[in-house]
Amino acid sequence: MAKIDATDGFETLAIHAGQEPDPLTGAVVPPIYQVSTYKQDGVGGLRGGTLHGSGAGPGRWIEGYEYSRTANPTRGALEECLAALECGARALAFASGMAAEDCLLRTVLRPGDHVLIPHDAYGGTFRLFDKMLSAWGVTYHPVRVSDTAAVRDAAAACGAALIWVETPTNPLLSIADISALAEVARAASAMLVVDNTFASPCLQQPLPLGADVVVHSTTKYLGGHSDVVGGALVVADADLGARLAFSQNATGSAGGPFDAWLTLRGIKTLGVRMDRHCYNGSRVADMLSSHPRVAQVYYPGLAAHPGHEVAAKQMSGFGGVVSFRHADGAEAAVEMCGRTRLFTLGESLGGVESLIEHPARMTHASVAGSPLEVPADLVRLSVGIETCDDLLEDLRAALG
Ligand SMILES: Cc1ncc(COP(=O)(O)O)c(C=O)c1O
Repeated sequence: MAKIDATDGFETLAIHAGQEPDPLTGAVVPPIYQVSTYKQDGVGGLRGGTLHGSGAGPGRWIEGYEYSRTANPTRGALEECLAALECGARALAFASGMAAEDCLLRTVLRPGDHVLIPHDAYGGTFRLFDKMLSAWGVTYHPVRVSDTAAVRDAAAACGAALIWVETPTNPLLSIADISALAEVARAASAMLVVDNTFASPCLQQPLPLGADVVVHSTTKYLGGHSDVVGGALVVADADLGARLAFSQNATGSAGGPFDAWLTLRGIKTLGVRMDRHCYNGSRVADMLSSHPRVAQVYYPGLAAHPGHEVAAKQMSGFGGVVSFRHADGAEAAVEMCGRTRLFTLGESLGGVESLIEHPARMTHASVAGSPLEVPADLVRLSVGIETCDDLLEDLRAALG
């Protein structure tokens, strides 16, 4: 009997979707199938499954196993779980968030296409468009994705084939209205892609709001423990899923079984972790908002945040990333990053441990001199799930 049914809640799906007890041994978590190849039941006959279609092009769907670049049971368990959490038709797991982005973009775009990207996109995403895809003939146009009318105008002006949205954005926590942008994309015959890394499916599910594709760096909240790099695509349309699976196999960008297993283990506690990230994040944002050495706080949970209403409409919590501008300028911001006790100076976000970083010189160094350049006095915090009072004390002491 299938363990999952349509009425199951998010936390139930996180623990059980794709994670039936192992049919061979009864192991209650999916084993790590650390294997490259599989014995076949005769030529072309895959163990435990059948092969539909010719196997030569998009549309191929493998139910059995032949080679782990193509499909692996541990990765398959993660993919099934991610599809359930994002309410998608299919999910694919990759070696990194950037591998997922690259697979998507080279599958759905062609030279000559135009793409809209957030004016404050993640630096690595910007670099992919700026240094890799532009050499391939794809043109990108930065736009303020929190301004739906500006996105509509920009899509019409360039004939955009794809609208790339982060919400909240990295590192300025801007909020885009996903359902409004889905209408804009539909009217422009463009694909709407939402990078849901900052919210995770626990706080926001873009596909039911009308997005075509969800992108994740599973390195962040989904994995949750700063011990694995990974990425994912989740799609609403099974045919697009099959095209992406073909590309993933053709280019070899899938993640390994141990990485899939670690990510799946992290996902089991996503719900309870996000509760604490949101609680700690909002208390940190409140404290910083009234601190004399802080010029501006970026956190969508603050009533003064320009995207607060939209965030409250489409998110069930505001997450654990808080950015702020140091009132004493860029050097003070850099120095503060080296003075915290519990907040570790480091890139990445979404782990149980708190991190602090200086985006202009670290995660977003690749956007220096571009229209996406971030303020030099900006500090980004990934607020972890430690005791909140300890985190507040650490930040107060580092601010001086
Ligand atoms: C919003 C966002 N998208 C994508 C990525 C890329 O993911 P990865 O580092 O797993 O390749 C990151 C990484 O920081 C990110 O913050």
